[in-house]
Amino acid sequence: MQNTIRINEDVTYLGSSDRRIALFENSYPLTNGVSYNTYLIDDGETALLDTADSAVMQAFMENLFSVLKGRKLDHLIIQHMEPDHCASLGLVVENFPEAKVYGTMQVKKMVQQFFGIDLGEKFVTVKEGDTLSVGKHMLQFVAAPMVHWPEVMMTYDTCDKILYSADAFGTFGALSGNLYADECDSWTADLAEARRYYTNIVGKYGNNVQAVLKKAQNLEISMICPLHGPVIRKDLGYYLDKYDKWSSYTPEDKGVVIVYGSIYGGTANAADCLATRLASKGVKNIKMYDVSKTHVSELVAEAFRVSHLVLAAPTLDAGLFPAMETLLLELKRKNLCKRTVALIENGTWAPVAAKEITGILEAMKDMTILPEKLTIRSTAAPGDEAALEALANALAADLNQ
Ligand code: FEO
Repeated sequence: MQNTIRINEDVTYLGSSDRRIALFENSYPLTNGVSYNTYLIDDGETALLDTADSAVMQAFMENLFSVLKGRKLDHLIIQHMEPDHCASLGLVVENFPEAKVYGTMQVKKMVQQFFGIDLGEKFVTVKEGDTLSVGKHMLQFVAAPMVHWPEVMMTYDTCDKILYSADAFGTFGALSGNLYADECDSWTADLAEARRYYTNIVGKYGNNVQAVLKKAQNLEISMICPLHGPVIRKDLGYYLDKYDKWSSYTPEDKGVVIVYGSIYGGTANAADCLATRLASKGVKNIKMYDVSKTHVSELVAEAFRVSHLVLAAPTLDAGLFPAMETLLLELKRKNLCKRTVALIENGTWAPVAAKEITGILEAMKDMTILPEKLTIRSTAAPGDEAALEALANALAADLNQ
């Protein structure tokens, strides 16, 4: 059955959600699925912006046929070749063989690599600033390399001022009837999921996102239509500000997140002791996470959110507790920078965790490590109180600057 949403008299949402998916990209846990968005502009000619993941292929194709009502598809615009948006490409070109396919220069090769489809003469290579007129809608292509793959482009409709933003401004979470961000809470009330989506999917490419945001400043934008999550039509400044902060690695909150790894509870207890002392010095909204029990994608998002981190870890096999090492390597991979970090290490006979953490942090940009490190032996003992107090004082003072 047709399940589409009219955005304006010419533009229709044809996407669909998958709530059965457990891991996005087989990596990131999803508790409420994800939507795969596609849009059809029905003007003098018809233009489809992206296709959909194989999980929703049937619903998407049914929507496409229903909305076209027997009209042919003239143009298929591939903004992003990743299979979560392109898995239905073969079906579309098979059913609409006259459609021209538009994409940046990498797209044709990637389509061949993933799907063995030779788009041949039907493929039109486009680049920054190229335009496509489908009637009164004039589409202008905006190159967005590495947001999130190299072939990505966005599309700006100069008629209704809609920016089709590819993966940017998307979020995890299925759509549940409400298409617009102002009608549901998947972006605003649940910003954590939007942040987790950005930081893990696009977080590494902050400079590329900044470049696109600069281009967007020159566009009058009425609405942002992403490939995942709700359409944004109100308070655009709020979303643009979040993207500006995330992509410039600017903390949203002056605050502290404590992440600890703990084998028998000693390191967890030391982290708790630090948290209590920080609270007594006026530090608010302290968040604590067990690195072994919290998915690394959530910790990456939290590290992007705050200005200060406490990393507390045991030594294992003369190295760093593996879950903490995984987190640090992920933060490094995402190019996190400009954070202040306090360290607690544990080692029953030869503690090296702080040295290992420091080595990774030093390979990241603009990371400040507080010198007041706490080293415990198995468990925090009364003799550690002075070092703990010194660490709490240093961190609280830095937070209150
Ligand atoms: Fe939603 Fe980068 O794919």
